[in-house]
This record gives sequence, C-alpha cells and structure tokens, in this order.
Amino acid sequence: MPNLAGIDIGNDSIKIVLENHHEPIIIPNIIAPGYERHILQEEDSPIKALDVVVNSPSLQKKNQRYFVGYLAVEDADNFELEETDNKAESEQSLIVTLTALAYAGVINRQNSSSYERMNDLEFIIGTGLPVRTYAKFNKTLRERLIGEHEITFLTTPELYNRTVKVVIKDALVSIEGAAALFNMSTHDNLAIKDDRLYSGTIGICEIGALTTDFPVIKRMNIDNRFSYGEQIGMANYLDSIIREVEDQFNYTFPSRAKLVQRIKQKNYLIQNIGEGQSNIKPIVDEYFTRAAQRMVDLIKKRWKKYPDIESFYVLGGGAIALQPYITEAAGPMTLRFVQESELQNVYGYLKLARKKSYAHNSI
Ligand SMILES: Nc1ncnc2c1ncn2[C@@H]1O[C@H](COP(=O)(O)OP(=O)(O)OP(=O)(O)O)[C@@H](O)[C@H]1O
Ligand SMILES: [Mg+2]
Repeated sequence: MPNLAGIDIGNDSIKIVLENHHEPIIIPNIIAPGYERHILQEEDSPIKALDVVVNSPSLQKKNQRYFVGYLAVEDADNFELEETDNKAESEQSLIVTLTALAYAGVINRQNSSSYERMNDLEFIIGTGLPVRTYAKFNKTLRERLIGEHEITFLTTPELYNRTVKVVIKDALVSIEGAAALFNMSTHDNLAIKDDRLYSGTIGICEIGALTTDFPVIKRMNIDNRFSYGEQIGMANYLDSIIREVEDQFNYTFPSRAKLVQRIKQKNYLIQNIGEGQSNIKPIVDEYFTRAAQRMVDLIKKRWKKYPDIESFYVLGGGAIALQPYITEAAGPMTLRFVQESELQNVYGYLKLARKKSYAHNSI
C-alpha cells in the first residue's frame, strides 16, 4: 500500500503530513549549491542537514548536489523564491518537495516495524496550487510529481549515503485556501464537523509568502466567478523591513527566513557593529500595519462584491504574523482566525488524498 501524504508546496516552506503520523514536517523552501562540508560538529537532527543529490525525470538538472531547507538558510549562496517563480514549474520547489518526502518517508519507516523494503517509498499525495495558477497549471504539477525520483542523502546525520527511491503513484492537486476550509469543516474520518462551514458560503483570505488567495466556497464547491488571487504576500513586506533595517542600522538579515525566525521569537533587538543594540520592532510594526490594511481593504472589496459570504476566514502563515494588526484594521468587521493557520492547507490536502483513496478502494 502506498503511503498517503499531504504536501503544501509553499513559497516560504514545504509542509508535509503523512497518514498515521501526526507531527507535520516543515522545511524552508530554500536550496543552495552543495559542496564537501567541513563538519566541526554534526547537527543533532537530520532535518537540520539535508545534503542531497536529487535525480528525477522532472528536473532539468540531473544528479546535482544541494543543501536543502535549514542547511541552506545559513548559506550565503542560497536561493529564496521570487515573485516570478511558478510553483508548478519551479525546479527549486520540486527539489525541496522530493527531499522532504524522502526524509518524511524514511523517518516514518524508522519508527514503524515495517517489513517493506526500507529504501523504496511509494506515495499517493494531495497537494495544491494558488487560485490564479490552478486552472492553467494543475496538470503540469501533477505530471511533474508522478513518477520515480531518487534522492541520496550525503552528510545528513542518521542518513549517510543512503539512497531513497520516492515513487509517486498519484497526485491530487487542489486549491490553496479551499483545502484549508475542507480541513476545518471535516473530521479525520471525513464526516462533517461544522455544518455551517460545510454548507455555507465562506470567504477565505489565505496569506502566503508570495501570494494571497481569496477563494469563495459555497457548499464546499469553489466559486469560479468570485474566487481570486493576488500576487502579493508577506515576502513583499518582509523585504521592505530588511531594506529599512539595513538603511537605518546597517544590519543585514541574510534571508527572509532569518527575519521571520526573529519575529516568531519576538526577539526584536539586533546587535550593532560595535557595542549596543537596536530595536527593530517599530519598523516591523510599520510594515505589518501596512500589510494588514492592504489585506483588510482587499477583504472588504471581496465581501462587497459578494454579500452572500457569511464568514471570512484569514489563514496561512501571514494570518499568524498579522492577526493583531488585521484585527485592529478591521474595526467592527468580524474576521475569523484559526489555530495552526499555516497548516490548514496541508491537513486539507491529506484529507483530500484520503478521500480519493477511499473512493478507489470502494470501486
Ligand atoms: N508566526 C509568524 N510570525 C511571522 N511571520 C510568519 C509566522 N508564521 C509564518 N510567517 C511568515 O508568513 C509567510 C506565509 O507563511 P506560509 O507558510 O503560509 O507561506 P507559504 O505557504 O510557504 O507561501 P505561499 O502560500 O505563498 O506559497 C511566510 O513569509 C512566513 O515566513
Ligand atoms: Mg501557502
């Protein structure tokens, strides 16, 4: 039996959940060219040192070595995705996705008493694309994912020189934000949990790193006429913060990921060159207030165009970052937030894959 997996191919981070393994795996969507590392002290977990060679018929560059995720965050030559990248066609996103799947599958196997061959991992996956790219690219993404891919871990602790074959048997591509709502309205066994969500007309504002999706969902069907996506996300504001911090304090964050780490830890003090520290909180507040105002304006516009919307949910990693600012900017307009906001899509993708596999088995 292939493993069921949900994968959210995020511009900021790739999230994976495997069936029967509840802990989600989150890997920054960053790669750097790989090289022979001088290891002074080995990392304490394989996820911190994904050093791989990836071979896949879907990649243009064959047999290349990459540092993936956290290992690449620290690297000066790293690549973060840019506005122009399309997830369905991006080499980088596929490299991180395949590495993440290989890692998740192997770790999962190690914890189970499976007799199956350890290095062949078969998957049926659920995943998704933003509203704007879905229609044009869902087939492309599906075709690129399905097939046999080979991942060799090099200096990764616990996985030294181990080659893993990831075989994707099938991939179900759905829509960002819509999958999140499917998760919120159903139980794990797919029975309806929240009838108001399942049968109502619900607006979603899913704030990602590079895109914000506004699907409108009516009785669990996506409304083609009113659903909509913006090519704007947290990255625009994070980049502005990085630039402003550079101008004001002459301090350079090496990546967006590093800045976000700080914001998550509420650690706003940066070290000056020479002694002393500076507080970047006012800069963060300024740009997050702007971002929140923009989101609230977009939501208002949507809601006005489609007054049948009963509730509006604000989701994605951006919702966590901006919640206090959005609540402030929204005034009397009620907007809803949920726990584990950035994981709602991936849980939804897994459920959709499960739904499909139930359907297969019953035929
Ligand atoms: N607690 C937090 N505080 C600050 N920023 C956060 C927090 N959580 C997530 N972010 C940032 O919010 C943005 C959106 O995160 P999310 O994981 O939803 O993006 P993604 O799904 O990878 O991107 P996309 O949907 O564009 O493909 C990212 O830039 C992320 O770094
Ligand atoms: Mg996302």
